[in-house]
Amino acid sequence: MEKPDWDKISFAYLKTGPNARCYYRDGKWNELEFTDSEYINLHMASTCLHYGQEVFEGLKAYRGKDNKIRLFRWEENAKRMNRSGQGILMPELPVDIFKEAVFKTVKLNEDYVPPYGYGATLYIRPLYIGLGPEVGVKPAREYLFMVFVTPVGPYFKNGFMPVDIMICREYDRAAPLGTGAYKVGGNYAASLKSLKKAHDSGLSTSLYLDAKEKKYIDEAGPANFFAIKGNTYITPDSKSILPSITNMSLMELAADEGMKVERRPVLVDELSDFDEVGACGTAAVITPIRKIIDPETNRIYEYCKGNEVGPVCNKLYHKLTNIQTGDNQDKFGWVSIID
Ligand code: PLP
Ligand code: COI
Repeated sequence: MEKPDWDKISFAYLKTGPNARCYYRDGKWNELEFTDSEYINLHMASTCLHYGQEVFEGLKAYRGKDNKIRLFRWEENAKRMNRSGQGILMPELPVDIFKEAVFKTVKLNEDYVPPYGYGATLYIRPLYIGLGPEVGVKPAREYLFMVFVTPVGPYFKNGFMPVDIMICREYDRAAPLGTGAYKVGGNYAASLKSLKKAHDSGLSTSLYLDAKEKKYIDEAGPANFFAIKGNTYITPDSKSILPSITNMSLMELAADEGMKVERRPVLVDELSDFDEVGACGTAAVITPIRKIIDPETNRIYEYCKGNEVGPVCNKLYHKLTNIQTGDNQDKFGWVSIID
């Protein structure tokens, strides 16, 4: 294989080695298969194409100083994929199939796991889709679960550097009783226009508000939102956001640092009270937020000077990433080594 330039790779698709596939037919899951093909043979009436029967996950494989490859809390991704699948009437995917597909695909692509120290990782994308043909709106009878991997750099261009974002008031990503808490493709389709608007304004992403009242903060593009106020870690409690595994981990790490943790509805009006704010997720890791711009009120909330990251974001970032790479002891039991 031709090695990518590890310090130049961005968050984009690069062809790698084999991907895993497992078909669900006649009410049961078949054997896991591996292929080098990047393509899927789809019926033109597959439910994933018409009625959005599609869920996905995102996790990473990290190379340590000891050259070992580690996964972070993969069981949580398996659980969330099933919660998302159940949310749109897809059959339960056995955790064993998820595990074998993820672990074997990473192992078969180990040359693509970036070396330690480049700020790059192997992104793992499990994908689960309705394959069977239907024209009426109903769940498919056949499904495909697959896993592919691709080496990635930071999601937000400059890595662990503050970004500017924009409050989104024109579009909603998810309805209060809709699919916002599931990782389904439709939520991302609903986010494209606001994302374009943010990018066109030179900003990194948009900050979604609750769709009903536009009073509360939901999440920050493809990442959860958190704020630091004194010794408190604050993050929105909302039924229309994706329950982030990174955020769940940061809440535990903050508590471990002796911080108070509040998961509760967060008012937009509180933005002026916070000392630091950030976006967190597998792709975003912790991305500190420098400025939040509200186009409706023309208010600008500012949290960092230039590229200076706040002390709590900095501490939590290193605490999290040092566990993921194996630099620090994993006292929480979050990491699995791929042999
Ligand atoms: N919110 C959305 C909409 C996402 O797409 C993601 C990424 O998966 C997250 C939050 C962060 O979740 P996690 O930390 O589990 O990657
Ligand atoms: C992730 O953080 O893994 C995500 O899935 C974000 C993605 C939509 C780019």
